Amino acid sequence: MAIDTSRVLVTHEQIEEMLTRLSDQLNRDYEGKHLVVVGILTGAFIFTSDLVRRLNMPVTVDFMQVSSYVGEISSGVLKIKKDLSYDIAGKDVLIVEDIVDTGRTLELLMEQLRKRNPASLKVCTAFDKPARRVNSFVPDYNGLTVPDEFIVGYGLDLDGEYRNFDDIRIVRKV
Ligand code: IMP
Ligand code: MG
Repeated sequence: MAIDTSRVLVTHEQIEEMLTRLSDQLNRDYEGKHLVVVGILTGAFIFTSDLVRRLNMPVTVDFMQVSSYVGEISSGVLKIKKDLSYDIAGKDVLIVEDIVDTGRTLELLMEQLRKRNPASLKVCTAFDKPARRVNSFVPDYNGLTVPDEFIVGYGLDLDGEYRNFDDIRIVRKV
């Protein structure tokens, strides 16, 4: 079986527009504040770096690496592979994610980070795939809503590959 990534879903120009729209909104909403940006590795590394360079307020950048799995008796378990380097108590925190799919990862991550008592905790995702949601999670900031397709590029991968595409492509197995 081969992988076909020739179908472009979001062009680089559309990504640029999305970045401008999101950063305009964030610059308004966090004006006069110091923002702690938490990028979620690995998928959000490109989006995080593009977004923070468009922010005007003082920013601290940190990263976490997490994964979620559905346990036998619980609705979901969060595994933290890399934790934050800074204490977020009393800080304005913005989680930056590549894509919200089932919503499990962010729901569990929000629950964990809230226990650390940030002043505020919000989520900015580049892409949202609401058709796949298993809970009521809604991102505070969403770049683009995408259909129920597996997408790669702009940081998003298939088994670690294709993150380097500067646009978003639909994966077809042929
Ligand atoms: P969740 O299902 O909302 O918990 O999403 C978990 C993770 O799955 C996301 O952070 C992405 O890393 C990955 N993911 C979900 N949909 C896609 C996709 O279409 N392409 C690449 N990665 C995806
Ligand atoms: Mg991810």
